[in-house]
Amino acid sequence: MEYGAPVMKAVRVMTKLFVLIFLLQSVHSRSSRVKLNIVDERGQKFASPPVTLKKVGPNQVVVDNGIIQVTFSCPRGLITGIKYNGFNNILNDQIENRGYWDVVWYELGHQPETDLLVGTKFDIVNQTSEHVEISFSRTWSVSQRGSVAPLNVDKRYIIRRGVSGVYMYAVLERLKGWPDVLMDQTRIVFKLNTTKFDVMAISDDRQKIMPFEADRNIRSGRASKLAYKEAVHLKNPQNHMLKGQVDDKYMYSMEDKDNKVHGWISSDQGVGFWMITPSNEFRGCGPVKQDLTSHLGPTTLSMFTSVHYVGKDMNTSYTSKEPWKKVFGPVFVYLNSASSRNLLWTDAKRQMVSEVQSWPYDFVKSVDYPLYHQRGTIKGQLFVKDRYNKIKANLFEEYAFVGLALPGEAGSWQTENKGYQFWTRADKTGMFTIANVRPGTYSLYAWVPGFIGDYKYERDITITPGKEINIGPIVYEPPRNGQTLWEIGEPDRTAAEFYIPEPDPALFTKLSFNHSNPQDRFRQYGLWDRYSALYPRNDLVFIAGLSDYKKDWFYAHVNRKAGNGTYEATTWQIKFNLKAVTQTGNYTLRIALAAATTVNLMVQVNEADSKPIFMSGLIGRDNAIARHGIHGLYKLYNIDVNGKLLRVGNNTIFLTHGRNTTDSFSGVMYDYLRLEGPSGV
Ligand SMILES: *[C@@H]1O[C@H](CO)[C@@H](O)[C@H](O)[C@H]1NC(C)=O
Ligand SMILES: *[C@@H]1O[C@H](CO)[C@@H](O)[C@H](O)[C@H]1NC(C)=O
Ligand SMILES: *[C@@H]1O[C@H](CO)[C@@H](O)[C@H](O)[C@H]1NC(C)=O
Ligand SMILES: *[C@@H]1O[C@H](CO)[C@@H](O)[C@H](O)[C@H]1NC(C)=O
Ligand SMILES: *[C@@H]1O[C@H](CO)[C@@H](O)[C@H](O)[C@H]1NC(C)=O
Ligand SMILES: *[C@@H]1O[C@H](CO)[C@@H](O)[C@H](O)[C@H]1NC(C)=O
Ligand SMILES: *[C@@H]1O[C@H](CO)[C@@H](O)[C@H](O)[C@H]1NC(C)=O
Ligand SMILES: *[C@@H]1O[C@H](CO)[C@@H](O)[C@H](O)[C@H]1NC(C)=O
Repeated sequence: MEYGAPVMKAVRVMTKLFVLIFLLQSVHSRSSRVKLNIVDERGQKFASPPVTLKKVGPNQVVVDNGIIQVTFSCPRGLITGIKYNGFNNILNDQIENRGYWDVVWYELGHQPETDLLVGTKFDIVNQTSEHVEISFSRTWSVSQRGSVAPLNVDKRYIIRRGVSGVYMYAVLERLKGWPDVLMDQTRIVFKLNTTKFDVMAISDDRQKIMPFEADRNIRSGRASKLAYKEAVHLKNPQNHMLKGQVDDKYMYSMEDKDNKVHGWISSDQGVGFWMITPSNEFRGCGPVKQDLTSHLGPTTLSMFTSVHYVGKDMNTSYTSKEPWKKVFGPVFVYLNSASSRNLLWTDAKRQMVSEVQSWPYDFVKSVDYPLYHQRGTIKGQLFVKDRYNKIKANLFEEYAFVGLALPGEAGSWQTENKGYQFWTRADKTGMFTIANVRPGTYSLYAWVPGFIGDYKYERDITITPGKEINIGPIVYEPPRNGQTLWEIGEPDRTAAEFYIPEPDPALFTKLSFNHSNPQDRFRQYGLWDRYSALYPRNDLVFIAGLSDYKKDWFYAHVNRKAGNGTYEATTWQIKFNLKAVTQTGNYTLRIALAAATTVNLMVQVNEADSKPIFMSGLIGRDNAIARHGIHGLYKLYNIDVNGKLLRVGNNTIFLTHGRNTTDSFSGVMYDYLRLEGPSGV
């Protein structure tokens, strides 16, 4: 028996009620679940059927709750089938791996390998009529060295009565003494029916009809090559509306803090397939880490860790001295059905909100997943004290980010991906509460849009079950030596406020049905190449006090085309006038980078051939320019400028991308630059 739209409608109504009840009760009460009676369109009540589990043949397990029926390979633990609402299988049944976990790993000196974390043992963790939790696990032994990642694996799946989807999580573990290994990526992949899913939806304003896999084929003439293999120019796609556009999965990246629901729609069958991520605690590298979502295939991902937009500054090395265990998930794969795209998307968002509010889930059976009462809370109030900065009007409009991550240096959370992270945003008075934190020892970190630098609380924080810590008022003093002489941009860790050019019209890609959101322009392909078009001979010159960074500061400092596939180093100039100079003191140049890719940034003062006052050395692997991110990793350089180098009247600071390259996306994105007068003056 199939339950379609009416069930979902009823579930929606029920959940709304629960959300209401949830809000009316104290925030600590846990919302209970949907399992009860379902009301159909005619108002008739019927109980949603109990969850059943069947072993089918020697190597399949089928779990069914009357709404969805999920087939697992056993004991491998891959999802091979999802039967739902008229679909015999939502997944692509032409290929073997269509619903799976994987880890990219290698021992130093070896090529990266992909491990599908295939199980060797099947267990029923819990089975009642309300709830089935199953486990596919494997235990590593040294005889497997080199063939699979040195990890103990426990992949768990939960299917609940009356709930249209499957919860999935995995516990990955390494014991002391196991071989050193690098692990660059951990994720879940779903590949959907290729003919039925046509529309991808990842946010309110990024939803579109997608090309097919075959449309990327260069040999068949359907597409032509672009600057790297992930991007192709669609020359002759099956859907002519997409002709001339670019397909590149990185156009659909998102910051983790915003990546809570994304997926695909079958317009034909009125079915949606959604990846819902109710918490960021198990993802690496903090709330503004960007990663892939869904992309052509049709493919839907859940990215837990990856080097995307961070690069190898992320420490992916797991050593033999370091035992490690981490719970990834649960995430929730949600299926819905409705008569229109909008209804499907709206319902998926509603379900996402309900999952977020139910976090931490009360039905997860792994001892490694702490329940609500096993977690703790930290509170406080963050103030910013900047000697020379009168409180800007927008000071607390863009609220501070405050978070807990493994102990480390200020800002280290950006590259940390082995532990858990818990982030929140303070309110306009700086008050913050981070709830539902797993017990453990953390550093408390923060950064505040509008101010440079990173905050770290002086002591480590130990979270204990059921306890609330209030650390009271804390004060962040951003780096500051003297008054601002000039500044360029806004310290917000992105290059979004600078000049972002229109793409080459021949490559313009619609990211949404009707009009693309102008704020998403940075996601267009090939913007880096516009620098050579805008500055064919002479580089950018910015005159402090006269130029407008919104128009006159190109969003990325890249190289210029020099013909024959080469790119030449470029030098930007900042010109500024000083009425007086203190020769005896140091001035301070603050350069905050929003991203860097294989660049050596060099700074000179007043003479283009003078000895550089700063060289970054070769920095950056975040690749954010080529991946259409408007930021990658944040870096702040505080550079002393000896007063003797400056003069009364006109001065120039030269910023040089000090490498000739053969690619066009080597460079930096600046976040913000500032020259401060000498300290104490
Ligand atoms: C897609 O679904 C249709 C109808 O259910 C089925 O005939 C077809 O084989 C499926 N194709 C793939 C690639 O899964
Ligand atoms: C399964 O879960 C239910 C509900 O939490 C619990 O009462 C029961 O003891 C569990 N059964 C097993 C075998 O763990
Ligand atoms: C990366 O982590 C490993 C294991 O914790 C540690 O030994 C190593 O020093 C770290 N490397 C860097 C560059 O931080
Ligand atoms: C954009 O497209 C969506 C989906 O087709 C539609 O609901 C919406 O009304 C459109 N908006 C505009 C401004 O045309
Ligand atoms: C371009 O490269 C080709 C082959 O390497 C060389 O013969 C030619 O001189 C180069 N042209 C210029 C303008 O550098
Ligand atoms: C000025 O900067 C230089 C170079 O960083 C440093 O060596 C020197 O001590 C500074 N002088 C003062 C007065 O701070
Ligand atoms: C100083 O710079 C300003 C602005 O670029 C320019 O108009 C002026 O001519 C310069 N003065 C001298 C003496 O070079
Ligand atoms: C880049 O190439 C130009 C022209 O070939 C050369 O003059 C310059 O020294 C090179 N710069 C660097 C940093 O290698």
